[in-house]
Amino acid sequence: MQIAIINGPNLNLLGKREPGIYGSTGFEDFLETLKKDFLQVQFEYFQSNVEGELVNAIQKFGFDFDGIVLNPAAYTHTSVAIGDAIAAIKAPVIEVHISNVHAREDFRKISHVSAKCAGTISGLGLHGYKLAVDYLLSKK
Ligand code: DQA
Repeated sequence: MQIAIINGPNLNLLGKREPGIYGSTGFEDFLETLKKDFLQVQFEYFQSNVEGELVNAIQKFGFDFDGIVLNPAAYTHTSVAIGDAIAAIKAPVIEVHISNVHAREDFRKISHVSAKCAGTISGLGLHGYKLAVDYLLSKK
C-alpha cells in the first residue's frame, strides 16, 4: 500500500506558523508518528510552496499510488490547475485542511479541488491526515 502526502504552501512552517490556528507540531514530527501508526503503509511525503511543483507531484504519484492525501493550503482557493490535476489521475485524493475553512474568511469557503476529491476533512487538526489514511486503507 503506497500513499503520498502532499502539502502546499506555508505548511513547511507548521509548528511555527500561527500556532493558535495550526497547532504547535511540525509536520515532519507528525509524519514519524503516522508512520508508526500505519506500519503497513509506504509513505511518500512532498511539500512545496510552488503551484506547478504540486501539480507535478500529483501527476507523479497519481497513477501508481493507492491514494493521495492532499492539503493544497492557500492554492485550494485559487488553483484551477491543481483541481484539473486531481481530475486527471487515477488515485483517489482526500483533501485535508487542518483548520475548519468554513469557519474562517469567506474566501476560504471556495475550493477548486473539493469536487475532484473523494472527500474532504477540515477542522480536525493533524488528526485529519490520519483519518484520511485510515479511509484509503479501508478502500484497499
Ligand atoms: C489550510 C487552510 C487554508 O485556507 C490556508 O491557506 C492554509 C492551510 C489548512 O490546513 O487549514 O494554508 O489548508
